[in-house]
Amino acid sequence: MDIESSLSDENQQLRSERDLLRRRLAEVEQTFMRTVQESQAEILAMNEALAQTNAQLRELDRMKDAFLSMVTHELRTPLTVISGITEMLETGIYGDLTSLQAEHIRQIGAQSDRLRHLVNDLLDLSKIEAGMMRLHHEAISPFSLVEMVIEQLLTFAAQSGVILLNRVSEQLPDAYCDPRRVEHVLINLISNAIKFTPRGGRVTISAETAGKRLRFCVADTGRGIPADALPRIFDKFFQLNTSTESGIKGTGLGLAIVKHIVELHGGEVGVESIVDCGSKFYFTLPAARGGKSAMENDPSRISPSRSTF
Ligand SMILES: Nc1ncnc2c1ncn2[C@@H]1O[C@H](COP(=O)(O)OP(=O)(O)O)[C@@H](O)[C@H]1O
Ligand SMILES: [Mg+2]
Repeated sequence: MDIESSLSDENQQLRSERDLLRRRLAEVEQTFMRTVQESQAEILAMNEALAQTNAQLRELDRMKDAFLSMVTHELRTPLTVISGITEMLETGIYGDLTSLQAEHIRQIGAQSDRLRHLVNDLLDLSKIEAGMMRLHHEAISPFSLVEMVIEQLLTFAAQSGVILLNRVSEQLPDAYCDPRRVEHVLINLISNAIKFTPRGGRVTISAETAGKRLRFCVADTGRGIPADALPRIFDKFFQLNTSTESGIKGTGLGLAIVKHIVELHGGEVGVESIVDCGSKFYFTLPAARGGKSAMENDPSRISPSRSTF
């Protein structure tokens, strides 16, 4: 009997301990649920605040773009006037110039040219970023594309003591592209190559077929680009050391424009470089087939936004 009553006591005690534990567990569960709910509410509020900030930033970005576009448009006209008058003064049409006056006028001309380039680059970039740049495609020989640009840059290369070589074969298939825009790409790449190559150096332009594309390469024997800068080299306003062999200062927009134009054509850009040995800039364009792009309906075509190589 004693054993029985002690067992029932123990049972009773165990039951009340179990009930206590259940109550505690329920309390912990409640606290946990409250905390989860509070955290969820906090996260929701933070998300909302973040979405609002994002919307504000997008609006500010749009306003900045609109402002930049308006200012650059407004700068264009006075700059054209300044350049025109400077050119007239340089010819001596208003009378002879002392050597100091001639030098100062030359500087005005050089600086207004630089500003004009900046304004044109900014306008191009804002046009591209707004999705307003339209391409006028045609089939054109890679050799003549390169030859056209080399002709424009021969004087600059000669002044810089750099040799320009067109190694593009005349037998290559035509490229299917907007020649005016691709000319811009080649001018940017070749003038960079000249700018960043010391006297006595060489800039070689070559091209080859790569499947349904053409792969162009601008190689120089210049100062090269450090490996840690390569991933950012196509970012807008990215510049390394702005002092150049030719003394010409750039805007840091050239390569960003190059990348955009090539990607608009469905191509890709890339670079390889070794400091003090030289750089190789590549870009691809669709090859032409019967007046059209050979890449049309090509499932292997890489989307421009994911391009790397
Ligand atoms: N061929 C090259 N060799 C060495 N550095 C280069 C070359 N091309 C471009 N760069 C580097 O990349 C930077 C960005 O080029 P770019 O966008 O054309 O701007 P910019 O020519 O106006 O400075 C240059 O300032 C330069 O530091
Ligand atoms: Mg440049």
